Amino acid sequence: MADKNTATSNVSEAEIAVHWQEEGYYPSPVSFIAQANMADANVYKRFSLDNFPDCFKEYADLLTWDKYWETTLDTSNAPFWRWFVGGKLNVCYNCVDRHLAKHRNKTAIHFVPELESDRIQHVTYQELYMRVNEVAAMLRNFCGLKQGDRVTLHMPMVAELAITMLACARIGVIHSQVFSGFSGKACADRIVDSGSTVLITMDGYYRSGAMQDQKEKADIACKESEAQGHKVDKVMIWQRHPGKNSSPQPMVTGRDFIINDVLKDYSHTYIEPEPLPADVPLFLMYTSGTTGKPKGCQHSTGGYLAYTAGTSKYIQDIHPEDVYWCMADIGWITGHSYIVYGPLALAASSVIYEGVPTYPDAGRPWRIAEELGVNIFHTSPTAIRALRRAGPDEPNKYNYHFKHMTTVGEPIEPLVWRWYYETVGKREAAIVDTWWQTENGGFLCSTIPALSPMKPGSAGPGVPGIHPVIYDEEGNEIPRGAGKAGNICIRNPWPGIFQTIWGDPERFVRTYYERYNKKKGSTDWRDWPYFAGDGAVQAEDGYYRILGRIDDVINVAGHRLGTKEIESAALTVSEVAEAAVVPVADEIKGRVPDLYIALKPGTVPSKELEMRISEAVVTEISPIARPRRVWLVPDMPKTRSGKIMRRVLASISNNQDSGDITTLANPEVVDELRKMAKL
Ligand code: WTA
Repeated sequence: MADKNTATSNVSEAEIAVHWQEEGYYPSPVSFIAQANMADANVYKRFSLDNFPDCFKEYADLLTWDKYWETTLDTSNAPFWRWFVGGKLNVCYNCVDRHLAKHRNKTAIHFVPELESDRIQHVTYQELYMRVNEVAAMLRNFCGLKQGDRVTLHMPMVAELAITMLACARIGVIHSQVFSGFSGKACADRIVDSGSTVLITMDGYYRSGAMQDQKEKADIACKESEAQGHKVDKVMIWQRHPGKNSSPQPMVTGRDFIINDVLKDYSHTYIEPEPLPADVPLFLMYTSGTTGKPKGCQHSTGGYLAYTAGTSKYIQDIHPEDVYWCMADIGWITGHSYIVYGPLALAASSVIYEGVPTYPDAGRPWRIAEELGVNIFHTSPTAIRALRRAGPDEPNKYNYHFKHMTTVGEPIEPLVWRWYYETVGKREAAIVDTWWQTENGGFLCSTIPALSPMKPGSAGPGVPGIHPVIYDEEGNEIPRGAGKAGNICIRNPWPGIFQTIWGDPERFVRTYYERYNKKKGSTDWRDWPYFAGDGAVQAEDGYYRILGRIDDVINVAGHRLGTKEIESAALTVSEVAEAAVVPVADEIKGRVPDLYIALKPGTVPSKELEMRISEAVVTEISPIARPRRVWLVPDMPKTRSGKIMRRVLASISNNQDSGDITTLANPEVVDELRKMAKL
């Protein structure tokens, strides 16, 4: 990692990863290669920069267009790229209607309730079609939503979430799904930013065997939105058990409506899928960045669907006859692209599992795989680590066979990778380690499973049409095999790239394109490398190893959290003067946040106060952001100019050497903090 980055708190993450040894190769099984969608090595040539951007016609042609597009890529307002300009299509039509002729009675969604005593529900493409139409009719006629309106969803992992998203897409309403585990307050911030007047939620859902009250969060979200000067007109509530309320919260007359009741008025109502311009927004997905304010990543209609369909077909190797299970949450980008849109565009059967992977025990995922005949499995290193710890031999007990497996979201340790390959995959599956981000729509780096061998701990080369480059701090390219890390960027735009940050185009340009822009005002895409915000090294063989974030983002169990968001949450407690968050290595979650707090003068530290600060983080954000420890410190280590040295705090939390601390204004505090951390 370049020296300048040692000032950031995440350098330890990069350092830890860079010390992994280069691993040997594992070939993909011959049985896999024989059936693979993509086994033609010429694909890289077809998608070379010489053939850019027209190469992406291959992905666009996986879709059905109401009107074929005229311009592949319009760069006239760089870096606000417009893909497939002039084209019109409907995403819902592409994911549902067009499959009816051949796959009407095939399962589109297998919904697996968390309680094992509840039977799995199989939603056929025909049933999906019926239900999506009815919900689209309700959104249009009852909620009064029209093309271009935003609607916030705060829904758990249920089939109704995919149905609601597709219904929005059918009429051009922009959905913004907020991860169900986020607090009512976090939901409100996203409602206000997106300007949604309708909130769609579910009364409750199961997590670790207990019914969660989700409606309560809707009430908080409405109250908080109103406090911020924005009114939510309607709260539409799905019932987890139709006909029964699973939340004790009272209904607010005139605001709250039970969807399962309202839908009775729309049974057998059909809504024509709206042919929409390729570059209108399909959805917003909020993610964390350097500041305390989450960014609403705006994804497009045609480019996004073309890219997720293409990568689902060639990297995930989805065939229509496959049973595909991505065990992510639809509240994150992985779920949007690789549970809902990509797989359904290809007429696959996609599994939606409501609960936690280890409930009621670590054999659960493998029982589900056995029962449904899942043959493609997709999950995160955190889930793999947790399953390995809780049930290292469980996979052997079940009769399932994966042809293909994916990891996503974090670097995977080679040791854990080998367990995934040998025990979960039974040495029968090809594995891809896919690197990408909320902003990207789909995979950026991965091997093509039939074309290149797997290498534990490495994502692989750029996928077809993605041309990564690693720059040092000065903008020089770091060549492959140099053994030096730098900032990974993508040289070219691609159809899945987000269009802008909702309501903040300046932040969009500043965050992602300014850093290595070669010429201001240029309309040549070559001048606008995309800055990903990750450190990486490229080995001699062209494979990239992703080392982690170089900005103020912590990847906790694959969830992206801004340190500034956690710090702002802590500052809502009136006794807190200063807050600093640093990542700590964790065996299961990869990283967890440690929270250092300096109290206002005259405040007495106490366990109660620590608890209150921790709870504030949960209330403002989510339990996933809860600090491992809250350290009430007498003073923060600071530079002479008064900047908190998070690097020093991170070294203390991770029990590492603090390096050079002579530039600190108060070096004596370091020893004091170390003593405290050992207690
Ligand atoms: C990290 C998730 C190593 C990276 C799709 C990125 C990874 C952030 C990998 C984006 C991988 C994602 N190996 N690190 N295969 N995939 N990351 O936006 O730091 O939730 O910037 O998107 O996760 O997280 P996000």
